[in-house]
Amino acid sequence: MSSIKITGGSELKGEVRIQGSKNAALPIIAATVLNQGITILRNCPKILDVFHMIKVLEELGSVAKWEGNTLILDTTSVSSTKVSEDSVQKMRSSILFLGALLGRNREVSIAYPGGCSIGKRPIDYHLNSIKRMNVNLLEDNGIIHCHTDKILGTDIFLQYPSVGATQNVILTAVLAEGVTRIYNAAREPEVVELCNFLVEAGARICGKGTSFIEIEGVKSLHDTDFKLSPDRIVAGTYMAAVAVTKGDVVLHDVPIQQIESIIRILDKIGCSIRTGDDYLRIRSYKRLLPYENLRTRPYPGFPTDMQSQLMSVLSLADGKSTIEEKIFESRFQNVDELKKMGAKIVVEESENKAVIFGVERLEGAVVKAHDLRGGAALVIAGLGAVGTTIVKEATSIERGYEDICRDLNSIGANTRYCSENIL
Ligand code: UD1
Repeated sequence: MSSIKITGGSELKGEVRIQGSKNAALPIIAATVLNQGITILRNCPKILDVFHMIKVLEELGSVAKWEGNTLILDTTSVSSTKVSEDSVQKMRSSILFLGALLGRNREVSIAYPGGCSIGKRPIDYHLNSIKRMNVNLLEDNGIIHCHTDKILGTDIFLQYPSVGATQNVILTAVLAEGVTRIYNAAREPEVVELCNFLVEAGARICGKGTSFIEIEGVKSLHDTDFKLSPDRIVAGTYMAAVAVTKGDVVLHDVPIQQIESIIRILDKIGCSIRTGDDYLRIRSYKRLLPYENLRTRPYPGFPTDMQSQLMSVLSLADGKSTIEEKIFESRFQNVDELKKMGAKIVVEESENKAVIFGVERLEGAVVKAHDLRGGAALVIAGLGAVGTTIVKEATSIERGYEDICRDLNSIGANTRYCSENIL
């Protein structure tokens, strides 16, 4: 497993382009099985999670080919209805094959995904919704077996605007008989992107981006050529990197509207941000201000996927900040790692809240990436620290960032991958 070595203290300057969106790519890759033919996905990020989804598709009988960042998928011969336990354990997003394969074959067997490092992450909303669509479900030894002779559209009321459950219901409903209405649907850009893709492929969907989505089932989908949006979390991560290094950077290919909540917070703590249609310039030239009452929320609120990166930034702010994690119950694993670098943070467990007392400097240390965004956040902390930081188990960062060292070094950072046994 690789590590990343960061020598802190460089000011970031220059221009960098943002890769395609991971969280848009994964459900769309699952959705390709709803069509028996060819899908072309442009601007697809070359990251571990995408490679994993492709592997599942290949196990099901698809053929995949890359041309640069264009992914060409041929799902004509998908015949299997089983997603292996290993696949689901390795990556939770494999659960999106539940709706997609059910839509295609009226039958699917898929392992129950366990919890993960950021929380328990149940799938009861997915299963309860799908059950309502005339699908029989049987759980046996951790495997969920679903089958039906006919998927029937119906009204689905989600208890919570779950991104995954909304996507799974959409995938199940696209080729169903009749109309499915989702109340309290997730409004995340990645749900909108899935709808855009499916509509391009011939689906009938209204209400994307609102909490009421209506899907009228169609008989079949057709081949599509689709370009994925840039990744809002990668954009936010690199903005956080500039914030801690007193830098001046232009980010290109930025989904500006999708990152308004991130721009708002970074602006409030003292960064100067100017936006264009699809680019932004961020400058940070003085000690940052603290921020009280930062809460993660469903979109358009502040994203849970940016919480760890903001914690790194606020560790160096001039005063006391608080972050409440409202989406996942255990997403503060970075606290102990940041403390090794000299951060002062207290977690109030009962409220899932971190109180951060900003320090004047962080010191380089050997720390461990517990999850994808937490790992990226430690790289950010390393950039803002004095001395050398080693982020161990950095492979989890490659799940979502094509090449975080390449991108950050292109704007003046001093980072490199190294193998664990060098340490
Ligand atoms: C979540 C984030 C998404 C992020 C992704 C990866 C939200 C609303 N969702 O999506 O932005 O990109 O993680 O970090 O911010 N839940 C249940 N039962 C279910 C489904 C969900 O109790 O069947 C709970 C979850 O435990 C969680 C909340 O609902 O507390 C939101 O989960 P959900 O949006 O489904 O998670 P993801 O789809 O993984």
